[in-house]
Amino acid sequence: MSWDPDRYLRFASHRTRPGIELLARIPDIDARRIVDLGCGTGDLTVLLTQRWPDAQVIGIDSSPDMVDRARSHHSSGTWSVEDISTWASDAPLDVIYSNAALHWIDDHRSLFRRLRSYVSDRGVFAAQMPDNWAEPTHRIPAEVLDSGGWPDAARSALLRDRLSTVDDYVRWLQPAAVDAWRTTYYHRLSGEDPVWTWVTGSILRPVLDRLTPAQRERFAGECRERYRVAYPPDHNSSVTLPFSRLFLVAHSTGRTKPSGPGYSST
Ligand SMILES: C[S@@+](CC[C@H](N)C(=O)[O-])C[C@H]1O[C@@H](n2cnc3c(N)ncnc32)[C@H](O)[C@@H]1O
Repeated sequence: MSWDPDRYLRFASHRTRPGIELLARIPDIDARRIVDLGCGTGDLTVLLTQRWPDAQVIGIDSSPDMVDRARSHHSSGTWSVEDISTWASDAPLDVIYSNAALHWIDDHRSLFRRLRSYVSDRGVFAAQMPDNWAEPTHRIPAEVLDSGGWPDAARSALLRDRLSTVDDYVRWLQPAAVDAWRTTYYHRLSGEDPVWTWVTGSILRPVLDRLTPAQRERFAGECRERYRVAYPPDHNSSVTLPFSRLFLVAHSTGRTKPSGPGYSST
């Protein structure tokens, strides 16, 4: 899947704020090994380095374009092109941090249990994922794609309903004290069709990759028109985009935890 760092960063302050708030909720621990999963352009990874200057901090992302951007803007960082679904840690990690990335990975049950198994005895797992799957941002492209006449590959590339329940996540992250919360941001966006610009920087990337230029133009036309109705511009030509996000911070208690990804408790 292709990512466009410049397009993603069009709304940089809106997109990084949840990541900063996630970071603020990580307790002050003595962290030596830290990984940022789905680090994107690395702008948040750098904040991890600033908070724990003596730690080894690695940013991992499957997009070479995003990692190139991280390397060129943050040359002192350590970056690696890897897929979270196959990535494995070779030693315990004190902080696993992931902002707006884990919803791209299938099978959260095995993913979260596997990631949890990499956290050190007193370490922290911290993740934020979009929790707005029923909002027009996501409903509109789904309605357009489901109306017929689009390639199956594009339809199935649209992420839908990605999250499990909070109780599931809490269970998969045991043993740990889990702080879970949901925040709705009301992003004030301006510019031409700003909601379309927002979604084409993230959730619609894999869909657009699977359309021909002519299909892309038709798809854009239909979605833009519906977004204008769902998010009408105000007297300042700005729109309000409500965007809910789920946060999970699991602080290990030091009790015995399952070892390795293959353990079998529920
Ligand atoms: C919405 S961006 C978030 C980037 C960064 N964490 C931030 O908050 O600015 C999602 C990132 O997840 C990465 N990603 C998606 N699926 C991935 C996977 N399977 N493995 C690694 N990275 C992945 C994308 O390449 C993208 O950079």
